[in-house]
Amino acid sequence: MNVLKLEDFTTQEINEILDLAEEFKNGKKVDYQGKKIIANLFFEPSTRTHYSFDTAALRLGCRTQNFDAGNSSLKKGETLYDTVKTFEMFGVDALVIRHTENEYYKQLVNNIHIPILNAGDGTGNHPSQSLLDLLTIRQEFGKFQGLKAVIVGDIRHSRVAHTNFKIMQRLGMTVYTSGPLEYKEEGYNYVEFDDIIDKVDVVMLLRVQHERHEEEMKETKQQYHQQFGLSSSRVKGMKDQAIIMHPAPFNRNVEIADDVVECNKSRIFKQVQNGVYIRMALLHMVLGENV
Ligand code: CP
Repeated sequence: MNVLKLEDFTTQEINEILDLAEEFKNGKKVDYQGKKIIANLFFEPSTRTHYSFDTAALRLGCRTQNFDAGNSSLKKGETLYDTVKTFEMFGVDALVIRHTENEYYKQLVNNIHIPILNAGDGTGNHPSQSLLDLLTIRQEFGKFQGLKAVIVGDIRHSRVAHTNFKIMQRLGMTVYTSGPLEYKEEGYNYVEFDDIIDKVDVVMLLRVQHERHEEEMKETKQQYHQQFGLSSSRVKGMKDQAIIMHPAPFNRNVEIADDVVECNKSRIFKQVQNGVYIRMALLHMVLGENV
């Protein structure tokens, strides 16, 4: 079983993953007693996804291998497929992979016979991030149906925006996007940030993905913050029960003001914590053993 994109899962299956993650949060114990090895293959930088998958595996009593792309045979021209096949032949039990190429997994799935968990493919999908976002929202509101969210920032280059827009709509949320027009995505319900901020339950901010741009951003950091950033004065305009989310890493005083990062509406570090429970649930699901 693979976890490549959320479209591959029914709504019931998604709710079951969230339920299992909640069980891990509430103390469920699973111990693979060192018999399973999880390989983390990150071909693109990561802190949260990489090390929360690693933490999740360790908490399940698995052992882990953390591939060092910069000191690997990639430098000698080895391909993605050959690298991944090599780890399969080592006898590892599951692969967590992040890569810059959209749908990189299509070149792997027919010939790799152990589970692949997609930790982010280019601008395409980030299923474990969306699941931890959903868990955070469900913990807050107890439901998805009828909630409103706005995702603000570099929508076009964001796998988080693409994954969340689709899954949140499927679960009955109304989802808007906002931010600089040059990063707008057609068909993604674009609105002006200041026209929607007082109407939504979730304000989700995104980092500008400079590493995926061919041209420099038009706005300076100060201009971006003024036009699209979540300042404390914008927070005052949010609904009383509304929450602030960000997949992180965040750029303080660009998309989010320094003093908003840990304000009482912010669930940003709770998202990070939920990431471990979601990844425990995903690893346990693909390892598929009753222990
Ligand atoms: N949210 C997220 O994917 O963060 P990392 O790039 O640090 O993994």
